[in-house]
Amino acid sequence: MVFIWNNDWATGHPLIDEQHKQLFAAINAFLDTGTQGASTDRMLETLNFLNDYTIKHFFDEEQLQKKFQYPDYPRHREIHEALKANVRALMSIFIRHGTSLQLTSRVKTEVGDWLVAHIKSEDQRVAAHIRSKELVH
Ligand SMILES: [Fe+2]
Repeated sequence: MVFIWNNDWATGHPLIDEQHKQLFAAINAFLDTGTQGASTDRMLETLNFLNDYTIKHFFDEEQLQKKFQYPDYPRHREIHEALKANVRALMSIFIRHGTSLQLTSRVKTEVGDWLVAHIKSEDQRVAAHIRSKELVH
């Protein structure tokens, strides 16, 4: 398990935090297949799940941003789009060439470490905004 939940990563929003935990679990599941010598099918299954769950999570988080009129929504959405494109690219590298140390290390840094940084620089601000709006209503 590469990414172990750390309270510094909490945004304080229950749904966002729960989905972030699932995302880290999905990243770990893929990275673990590498160390466990899992079959190509199993690796693809975990990568597919990571891709699907990334799409679902970003969609749900963007719905919340719209609902609470988060002012930085358009920029935040573009950041999500870029990450989704990168996960798709990583998946197609896997489909064409199979796994490699370079691929797993890209998933670790470009998806896992990326998510840690994104939570701290962006999602914690989203959650603070939602809290401030909830207090008003
Ligand atoms: Fe986000």
